[in-house]
Amino acid sequence: MRLFSSLAALRRRPFAKRAAFGRHQRGCAIAMIPHRRTYLRCIAISTLVLTLCLSRCVALENGLARTPPMGWNSWIVFEFNIDEKLIRSMADTIATNGMRQAGYDYVVVDAGWKAKQRGPDGELAADTTRFPSGIKALAGYVHSKGLKFGIYTDAGSKDCGWDAPGSLGHEEQDAKTFASWGVDFIKEDWCNTEGVNAREVYTKMSRAMLKTDRPMVLSMCEWGDNHPWLWAADIANMWRTTGDSKACWDCGHESKDKPGGYPRGWTLILDAQPPLRQYTGPGHWNDPDLLVAGVKGVSLEESRANFSLWAILAAPLFVGIDLRWMPPEVARIFLNKEVIAVDQDAAGIEGDRVSPPGDQEVWVRPLQNKDTAVALFNRSGKTTQISVTWQQIGRKSNEKLTVRDLWRHEDQGVRQREYSAPVPAHGVTMLRIGATH
Ligand code: GLA
Repeated sequence: MRLFSSLAALRRRPFAKRAAFGRHQRGCAIAMIPHRRTYLRCIAISTLVLTLCLSRCVALENGLARTPPMGWNSWIVFEFNIDEKLIRSMADTIATNGMRQAGYDYVVVDAGWKAKQRGPDGELAADTTRFPSGIKALAGYVHSKGLKFGIYTDAGSKDCGWDAPGSLGHEEQDAKTFASWGVDFIKEDWCNTEGVNAREVYTKMSRAMLKTDRPMVLSMCEWGDNHPWLWAADIANMWRTTGDSKACWDCGHESKDKPGGYPRGWTLILDAQPPLRQYTGPGHWNDPDLLVAGVKGVSLEESRANFSLWAILAAPLFVGIDLRWMPPEVARIFLNKEVIAVDQDAAGIEGDRVSPPGDQEVWVRPLQNKDTAVALFNRSGKTTQISVTWQQIGRKSNEKLTVRDLWRHEDQGVRQREYSAPVPAHGVTMLRIGATH
């Protein structure tokens, strides 16, 4: 795990990347005159660097997801037990409980909506028992609530765990069908893809989507198996970095090192993120999977921690619980506008852990207005005092900085050198630290 000693290092990194490229060009100019071999080697290296840079720096030009997408997804709680009535009632709830105003605007129907066969013309169709009115009508309903509509498909021959056709070989047709239904967001999974080249098949879907002229987010879900962060920025708006997150603290650690869709506790998913932070940005996001906050088996403290750390990661925020029965203390988590503002910060810089990994951790994220978001994260089983130093956030120790607690919604005054707070077991203290005005 790479450790950044100061926030300055976090801010500098994208520019350092560019500078390195510039330096390389200068080196070539000098080297090309005397030796033909060196010159050719230089051209080869430059081409490689350019290709790498393009695959990392070019973003998908569909204008969407300039900040991490937010919404509700049916998978984590309902799995395959979905129907149009459920989806409608979720849309009703989001439109009236303050979530839509807070930024949760995508309602995503995950696996379980498809009929087991394509129609006679090869088109995907909805399961008529569960979705008798059809997907177009459902999307229309969701739109009528001022929300956007998302749907699931799979890049392989069949969906994950649901015996229904995947989009393999039907990318153009399926993208057209989705566009004609009024879909705004496509999650494309990675089951049943033996022998399939991930980059090729997701590129096909992405191009097909662009051809439809309907703006649709592409959310790739190949679990990080093919290192999508290295090549998907010009194809997709977000890509899963790991297998599925499970509603538990650190269960599944025995399968931690296996690739693929092993469900595991959300803190293990968190631990996989720091090396990937440089690949995220406006329009193309690392996706550490759905929030488990509020799900049975996740305590309130853990829920606050999950939500806060996903905001530090600039992660897409997809809630999965049954919103119709959301307890007020859980609603207060999802509606915390100060934490949401951190997640949605326009600079789109993913945060990092700036302490050694362990029971007491400090995670920081630089924000556009030069404030720093900080999560003091206590993984231990008892309340513990945790400090963040100004050095850890890239400031001089004698600087006077304001500290605001984003869960208490309270200013903590002007501080120097460090800020320290007791953090509950499995919980966070979330702060915004900035210059005095
Ligand atoms: C895979 C994905 C999940 C979900 C299920 C549906 O496991 O990673 O997010 O879509 O399939 O079956």
